[in-house]
Amino acid sequence: MDPKALIEAAHAARAHAYAPYSKYAVGAAVLGKSGRIYPGCNVENVSFGLTVCAERVAVFRAIAEGEREIVALAVITENGGAPCGACRQVLAEFGVAARVLIGRSDQSFRETTLPDLLPQAFDKG
Ligand code: THU
Repeated sequence: MDPKALIEAAHAARAHAYAPYSKYAVGAAVLGKSGRIYPGCNVENVSFGLTVCAERVAVFRAIAEGEREIVALAVITENGGAPCGACRQVLAEFGVAARVLIGRSDQSFRETTLPDLLPQAFDKG
């Protein structure tokens, strides 16, 4: 996998973040097994608890388009924030071994994996 296109898609999605409350824009993109890329951004709500993270928007978008296996996820924030615990568990459902690229607005990024981010994920077996 060439990370470039995935990183670029996450950067572009970040421009669409709806984050008037936290002012913390997040962009994400997932790569499905089909080779297609699905972007997502965080979408906040005046009822704060209804906010949805960029990663979950991207994952749900992929699933809604027919993907069932996620190969990789990229997430971009200003300061290189890692995916939250809820997003890690949602990603585990469809990409238990997914590569995870964690980037910053300055275009730098680091690579890890979902097993590293979420060891011993819940799985009812
Ligand atoms: N956020 C994400 O989009 N992804 C994460 O993994 C953690 C947090 C969003 C939610 C909220 O809109 C803002 O970042 C601040 O928490």
